[in-house]
Amino acid sequence: MFRIILIGSLLNLLLTEESIHPRPEYYISSQDELLADDGRVLLERHCYTCHNPKSKSHDEIIAPPLWGMKKHYLEAFPEKPAFEKAMLEFIQNPTEEKALMKGPIKRFGLMPKPPVSKEDLQKIVSYIYSNELENPAWHIEKDNEKKAKSGDLR
Ligand code: HEC
Repeated sequence: MFRIILIGSLLNLLLTEESIHPRPEYYISSQDELLADDGRVLLERHCYTCHNPKSKSHDEIIAPPLWGMKKHYLEAFPEKPAFEKAMLEFIQNPTEEKALMKGPIKRFGLMPKPPVSKEDLQKIVSYIYSNELENPAWHIEKDNEKKAKSGDLR
C-alpha cells in the first residue's frame, strides 16, 4: 500500500516537473519521436534515480551526472556505433575494467547492474547519444568558473 502511494507521488512529481519545464519543440519524424520518447522515459525511470540531473549540489549526488559521462564517452568514441557499444557493455554488466573513468568508482562505488532488458538499455544509450542531456545547474557554474579562469568564456 505504502509503495503504491510512494510510486504515485513520484509520478506526480515527474508530471509536475514536465508542466513547469515544457519540453522544447523540435522537428523530427514521428517514428524518431516515438523512439526518442521511449528512450527518454526509460532513462528517467531507470537511470535518473541515481544520475539525477536535478540534484541541487555536488555534495548531494549519489552518482555523477550522465551529462559529464556522455562528454567523456564522446571524446573516446565520437561515432554512434562505437559509443553505443562501449556504453552498453558497461551498463549491461558494470565492472571496474570496463569503466572509462575510474575516479567515480572510488567516490561512489561501482554502479550496480541495472534490472533492465538489453533492448531497453539499447534505446537508452541511443537516446543519450542523439539527444541533449540535462546538465545540473551547479555543473554549468563549475564549468563556467573553469572557463573564466582559463580566459575561455565568451
Ligand atoms: C543505483 C544507482 C545507479 C543507477 C540506477 C544507474 N547508475 Fe550509472 N553509475 C552509478 C554510479 C555510482 C556510477 C559511478 C561509478 C562507476 O562508474 O561504476 C555510474 C556510472 C555510470 C557510467 C560511467 C561508466 C564509465 O565508463 O566510467 C555510465 C555511462 C552510466 N553510469 C550509465 C547509466 C545508465 C545509462 C543507467 C540507466 C540504465 C544507469 N547508469 C543507472 C550509479 C547508478
